[in-house]
Amino acid sequence: MKEVNVLVTGAAGQIGYALLTRLASGETFGQDVKVNLNLVEVPQVVSRLEGSRMELEDCGFNTLGTVKNFSDMNEASGDIDWALLVGSIPRGITINGKKIEERADLLKINGGIFTEQGKALGENAKADAKILVVGNPANTNALIGCTHGNNESQTWMAMTALDANRAKAQVANKCNLDISDIKKMTIWGNHSPTMYPDLDNAEIKGESASGWINDQNWIESDFLRIVQQRGKAIIDARGASSATSAANAAIDTVKATIKETPEDDWFSAAVLSDGSYNVPEGLIFGFPLKVDTNGKVSIVKDLPISDYAQEKIDLTTQELLDEKNDIKDLL
Ligand SMILES: NC(=O)c1ccc[n+]([C@@H]2O[C@H](COP(=O)([O-])OP(=O)(O)OC[C@H]3O[C@@H](n4cnc5c(N)ncnc54)[C@H](O)[C@@H]3O)[C@@H](O)[C@H]2O)c1
Repeated sequence: MKEVNVLVTGAAGQIGYALLTRLASGETFGQDVKVNLNLVEVPQVVSRLEGSRMELEDCGFNTLGTVKNFSDMNEASGDIDWALLVGSIPRGITINGKKIEERADLLKINGGIFTEQGKALGENAKADAKILVVGNPANTNALIGCTHGNNESQTWMAMTALDANRAKAQVANKCNLDISDIKKMTIWGNHSPTMYPDLDNAEIKGESASGWINDQNWIESDFLRIVQQRGKAIIDARGASSATSAANAAIDTVKATIKETPEDDWFSAAVLSDGSYNVPEGLIFGFPLKVDTNGKVSIVKDLPISDYAQEKIDLTTQELLDEKNDIKDLL
């Protein structure tokens, strides 16, 4: 049987709990691949991972390989094919008597974490490792990790698939369609309320989604607001942040990168900008992406961008430039 070595940080958290069985069950990597899991947590809660390990064992998956628990990224990151960096310090936590509310503080605290994690993965993970940052602020965390990973053959991404899935769900509801009828959904920019879900370049049965919907007022008001604010709406309703759908989006991203992207589709994640669409180089930015037969991820080029879309893309670009400025000492 083939094997894949997968590292998950924040593995004892909510998303981690929803993620692990789906990584191990054969659903993600296939029924012919053994999944070895390296689970990483902060030292205070690493013992909880033993409970996750026992549950995974009790699921009885043929595809489950080894499960090892770590609190040290250097030890955990050896020979890793895939790293899902879910762990991060949430807004509102109190550290050294100070409640962390400001974005700049949050960026700096998480920046320290992603500096170390990036170095460990750059030095120890496989040359063709793929790394997906889920922990917020995901794009800027990924930028810090990628910079300190300093390993050009590895691929760093920040997750925007949850936003893309949310956008597809709203369109499917509006048009009474199946989700699978909606293709080529792009989330431009930051995984934050400034992200821009693009219905001009999304397709419904081969036609532009915005043309199919034919209701610009709905697109510019309800649709945009619902997708951009969905995370908050879930927290308000559930009293906790989205975990099942976030884990599902992480699984979708992994699946999207392990096989060639179908001709009639693409997927959404944030990767290091190469200057495409005039996005400044050196930002981790949400783009439409394709994967080739060798597993190489590339940005889909030359899509038309309307003036309205450009305004939205400029906003989210500015937010990422501001975030980058806040952590410039860490780069
Ligand atoms: N990109 C997205 O679409 C998306 C969607 C939902 C949530 N998120 C983010 O995902 C993150 C995790 O969410 P959650 O609901 O699972 O949170 P959670 O608080 O339940 O779990 C986070 C876990 O990370 C661990 N952790 C913190 N620092 C760590 C470190 N340095 N190394 C290893 N583990 C560490 C914590 O101990 C905790 O167990 C949050 O930052 C959340 O904002 C992102």
